[in-house]
Amino acid sequence: MRILSGIQPTGILHIGNYLGMMRPAIALQAQGEAFYFIADYHALTTIDNPETLRANSRRIALDFLACGLDPDKGALFRQSDVPQVAELTWILSTVTPKALLERAHSYKDKVARGLPASAGLFTYPVLMAADILIYDSDLVPVGKDQKQHLEMARDIAQKFNDTFGGVLKLPEPHIQSATETVPGLDGQKMSKSYGNTIDIFGDEKEMRKRIMSIVTDSAPVEAAKDPASSTIFQLYSLFASKEETETMREVFQGGGTGYGDFKKQLFAKLWEYFEPMRKRREEILKDVAYIDTVLKKGAARANEEAGKVMKRVRAAVGL
Ligand code: TYM
Repeated sequence: MRILSGIQPTGILHIGNYLGMMRPAIALQAQGEAFYFIADYHALTTIDNPETLRANSRRIALDFLACGLDPDKGALFRQSDVPQVAELTWILSTVTPKALLERAHSYKDKVARGLPASAGLFTYPVLMAADILIYDSDLVPVGKDQKQHLEMARDIAQKFNDTFGGVLKLPEPHIQSATETVPGLDGQKMSKSYGNTIDIFGDEKEMRKRIMSIVTDSAPVEAAKDPASSTIFQLYSLFASKEETETMREVFQGGGTGYGDFKKQLFAKLWEYFEPMRKRREEILKDVAYIDTVLKKGAARANEEAGKVMKRVRAAVGL
């Protein structure tokens, strides 16, 4: 089984990325061959500073390795190190209905937030389909915000197959219900664009400050509180054991504890959870060349697979 996923190097890794994609992706490494990449072509739709793009890409590779990606079990690479993906994007774009792209929520959201409506932003889902289809991927672990893009990838593959024969494999999304949309500090989806993230490898003071700023209702200390509607509780339950989660639920419902105390418990849990990853990250940073070696090896492996699919595609369309 081939497992594939990507992450844009647009900023700093936050716990939404970690829970929605990285944690399941790392767990899936045991079940098949993993291909995980840094979507730097995609990031060009929002980043126009070359230094920033380069630095962010290396940083995401470092963070992914620190979180437990095993480069001996799978391939970690930059999207742009497989330029054949751009060729497949073009070919797929010739069978993709414009109306399909016009339905993309993510495009509409980004334009509504003021991003220029470039052709690249509009055709983003075609590049994403190419990313997936070029490796004959079976399973794609992502958060819920990417679900529509995956449906589009399947639709595009189907359209291609209807036109040129059964050349492309249709992928399945892998979306875990508990972590499909991790809430941010204000209760909306955690996202860098909303400025509501908790970053994994930020410093201790910053992480504490951000957790202490989680928005709550104004229930007084003595009041019973509703765990289900609390971002603090939701985040805590995604990292704590069952017993710890049940204990917090009871204390919420019992009253007598203020939100400030729950936030302190959440901070302690997160800081402890990411401790081994911070340590691994420091180790990797002692030998930065290691990151380049991993990316190079990953790119070679990815090119090998992409080459096979492109050979089929080129033959099918008559190139
Ligand atoms: P990106 O870079 O925005 O996010 C990377 C992954 O993190 C997940 N995620 C979340 N999951 C749950 N809750 C959240 N609050 C949250 N925020 C982010 C995303 O769902 C994603 O899985 N278009 C993709 C990158 C991409 C890709 C691909 C993914 C390009 N090509 C091919 C899969 C397959 C993106 O922008 O993800």
